[in-house]
Amino acid sequence: MISEGDYVIFFYGKKKWLTKVEKGKKIHTHIGIINVDNIIGKPYGISLETNKGKIVYALKPTIYDFIMKMDRLTQIVYPKDLGYIVARTGLSSGDKVIEIGTGSGALTTFLASIVKPTGHVYTYDINEEFVSIARKNITKVGLEEYVTFNIKDVRDIYDIRDADLIIVDLAEPWTVIDFVKRALKESKMMVSICPTMNQAERLSKELKKGFIDIECDEILVREIEAREGMTRPVFRMVAHTAYLVFARRLYDDSR
Ligand SMILES: C[S@@+](CC[C@H](N)C(=O)[O-])C[C@H]1O[C@@H](n2cnc3c(N)ncnc32)[C@H](O)[C@@H]1O
Repeated sequence: MISEGDYVIFFYGKKKWLTKVEKGKKIHTHIGIINVDNIIGKPYGISLETNKGKIVYALKPTIYDFIMKMDRLTQIVYPKDLGYIVARTGLSSGDKVIEIGTGSGALTTFLASIVKPTGHVYTYDINEEFVSIARKNITKVGLEEYVTFNIKDVRDIYDIRDADLIIVDLAEPWTVIDFVKRALKESKMMVSICPTMNQAERLSKELKKGFIDIECDEILVREIEAREGMTRPVFRMVAHTAYLVFARRLYDDSR
């Protein structure tokens, strides 16, 4: 049943509104006013009418919905890339992950949802304002106990040695390779999110010292509009987000 304080997605056609359920709340939309009181005490999936007679559905938000509706001041990592990162690295519940570049916390949120309840995400950023937004975003999803926020440059850290995965989302990822070498367990993976080929190329070259299984991937998702007798791809798609560079840490007896 939907209670006050829960989050809900109101769904109409392809439009979605994410909102916290509060008594007396009204959402003004192009299809009329949605009266939130009408869903309190009702089951998720229920339909309701706006004051213009349009039918909307109240759905339970998924991690995908929370990420796509996040407050953001930075570019986020998109679900198409998030999913592949987890599949390619084998990240699982119980893992200790280090994220460099918290940004708006989209990736942080997804990572926390995978490693919980016994794993943890340690995320680093140098911008306090971004971290404060990321903190709010993660609290909204209820995953804050699985994340430690650090306002710090990882290049100054020397005492971490047991990360199961390190994710780098910075403009110059090669500048943190020495930290990755110190902090990542042998044979475990790092992945870097590189918006341009130049970044992916330079990083791949620099990773040749100390890493193996270096691979650069791009993930494309093309939505198909499935309609009887008229099925075809949609006209618009996200053509580019980032290149993903994966690498595995080699054993190093000088560590
Ligand atoms: C593209 S954003 C990260 C987006 C994030 N992964 C998400 O999904 O929301 C890059 C972030 O890296 C941070 N950053 C830049 N240089 C850094 C450094 N040396 N150490 C830590 N964070 C850094 C920036 O402040 C910015 O928030």
